[in-house]
Amino acid sequence: MEGLRKVVNSLGRIPEIRPDFKEIFSILKNQPSISEDQLSKRINEIDGLADFIINLSNNKYINKAGEITSICGALKFMGTPAIENLILFFMTKKLFPIKTESNRAFDSESFWKHCLGTSAAGMILAKRNNYPEPQRIFTYGLIHDIGISVLNYCEPEYLDRVITHIKNGLEMSDAEKAVLKGLNHELIGAWFCQKTGVNENIANVVQYHHTPFIPKGNADEHEILYLADLISSEYYYTLLGISQDQKFYDKFEPFNYATKKDVMEVSLMLPKEVEKLQKDFI
Ligand SMILES: [Fe+2]
Ligand SMILES: [Fe+2]
Repeated sequence: MEGLRKVVNSLGRIPEIRPDFKEIFSILKNQPSISEDQLSKRINEIDGLADFIINLSNNKYINKAGEITSICGALKFMGTPAIENLILFFMTKKLFPIKTESNRAFDSESFWKHCLGTSAAGMILAKRNNYPEPQRIFTYGLIHDIGISVLNYCEPEYLDRVITHIKNGLEMSDAEKAVLKGLNHELIGAWFCQKTGVNENIANVVQYHHTPFIPKGNADEHEILYLADLISSEYYYTLLGISQDQKFYDKFEPFNYATKKDVMEVSLMLPKEVEKLQKDFI
């Protein structure tokens, strides 16, 4: 139980969530009773946040036209849930900065590439299936593994032990069981989401991104993110130098949002897709 106790104690000592971020999340939850101007004003008060949202909303990967100049425009194009995800991503990167350290088993660059890979794969699957608001799926990719950022901040040594087990052949969930004794990055991420006050849907996506059939509601969203994460996990393992005896798509059963062919095609596309995104995010 040592791992569990130590991590839970550390979670209690994470930095306080800034009240201005909490207020924005609360405003977003209460929309549409709150005006966009009011929200825009709050976002502009946080250093760098408006620029981050507008730049991302104009990113060629998401928006070919790239004509957004204001928060209201970004809200219209991206949709409220996507904007909420972006704010959570921005806040988390500031709260838990991740640096590359050569003596670590955890490799931050590969981790961010995995998140971008999940965003890219999710966007491609969403578009192939004419899913409305594929940009929302993109933003879920950025935050789905938020629990890993939190664990890395709180107990980097324990995260390194998890990664070492994975490198030695364990599945992620088994590696976490061995080290964290009942806790995992999905639960840590969902706990953190609840602490910030973001919409419950986000906490749900974070909690169930490896078990998409458990939550009730938003089944399509859960499935696309699950598939995207699966595809990008294979990419992540390759980046970590983990060889897999059997490619995961050999045992892949078709879902609503991806056939085996889709999965194989998107897997092949991923390194190039991440390259396109990398300069803007990592
Ligand atoms: Fe995950
Ligand atoms: Fe992931």
